[in-house]
Amino acid sequence: MVEAKSLRARCLEEMEASPRGYFGGLDWLRSAFLTVPREHFVPEKVWWPRPGPDGLYPLIDRHTTPARWLKSVYLLRTPLITQIDDGAAGPDSPASGAFTSSISCITVIIELLRHLAPAPGDKVLEIGTGTGYTTALLAHRTGPGIVTTIEIDPQVADRARHRLDALGIQAHTVTGDGEQGHPPGAPYDRILSTASVRHIPPAWLRQLRPGGVLIAPLDSPFGFDLTMRLTGNGQGAATGRPVATVEFMRLRGQRTPQAYSELGWPEDIDAQRWCDYEMHADQQGQQIRIRAPHRGSAAPAHTIR
Ligand SMILES: C[S@@+](CC[C@H](N)C(=O)[O-])C[C@H]1O[C@@H](n2cnc3c(N)ncnc32)[C@H](O)[C@@H]1O
Repeated sequence: MVEAKSLRARCLEEMEASPRGYFGGLDWLRSAFLTVPREHFVPEKVWWPRPGPDGLYPLIDRHTTPARWLKSVYLLRTPLITQIDDGAAGPDSPASGAFTSSISCITVIIELLRHLAPAPGDKVLEIGTGTGYTTALLAHRTGPGIVTTIEIDPQVADRARHRLDALGIQAHTVTGDGEQGHPPGAPYDRILSTASVRHIPPAWLRQLRPGGVLIAPLDSPFGFDLTMRLTGNGQGAATGRPVATVEFMRLRGQRTPQAYSELGWPEDIDAQRWCDYEMHADQQGQQIRIRAPHRGSAAPAHTIR
């Protein structure tokens, strides 16, 4: 689809021009973004993530409004909703409810991958396959047959598996609860969650090799999620800090709110200094505390979506 190709090129140009430095000078990430056809992974009918005047999320249908559908696929900062209320409402009409699956927005995925920084040949575990789009970008970097992606919703997982297969992308698409990781493939060089957590699942820490990197959106008392970048010690623990702010749907098993004091957060928090926090997570739980700011460092703007 020639038009999709030029839309990708335009997205790349826009991101390159942004002071946010989405690609961080990484050629592989640019090449992955230009190569993987995002539109191939987007269902024919998706919901727009902002409600219309009737309070319902409008449906965008590829058959009836193909140009609008394609334009939406290539909006930099808009995720498209592919499932509401765990599939209770089919994608046939405008709907209301909780978003439970989506194709993540472009800028968020590019930033997550930049921070994940996988190398060719790295064993990667992705939690939250969704449409399979992020999986395809990962496989483009690491090579065939070494990305494992796990999705809890069987229908969502099946669809992603077929979309990946149709492009000849070799990844292990597992249907299951990613909160347990995927022990048969461990240890992993990189673990990426595209669902947010309130606490880092101990299984992920156990399955990360020494020096391996874990990227996960973490719920915070600041009113937004933090993209955490943690480095594993190979013995079930990891330390690191937030590298960006973000918003993600929760991992299924962590939807129920919990007091932040039980999640290792200090009592006094300062949202302006979100990037000055650091985290230690191990098999017993997690601790988050503020660290001394580097001189001259300023919090990057909170502008992901
Ligand atoms: C934001 S979507 C991921 C989107 C994906 N990155 C993409 O661009 O297509 C989050 C996904 O996580 C899945 N999910 C939620 N809890 C999960 C769990 N415990 N294990 C595996 N997948 C889970 C949801 O079903 C949903 O499909």
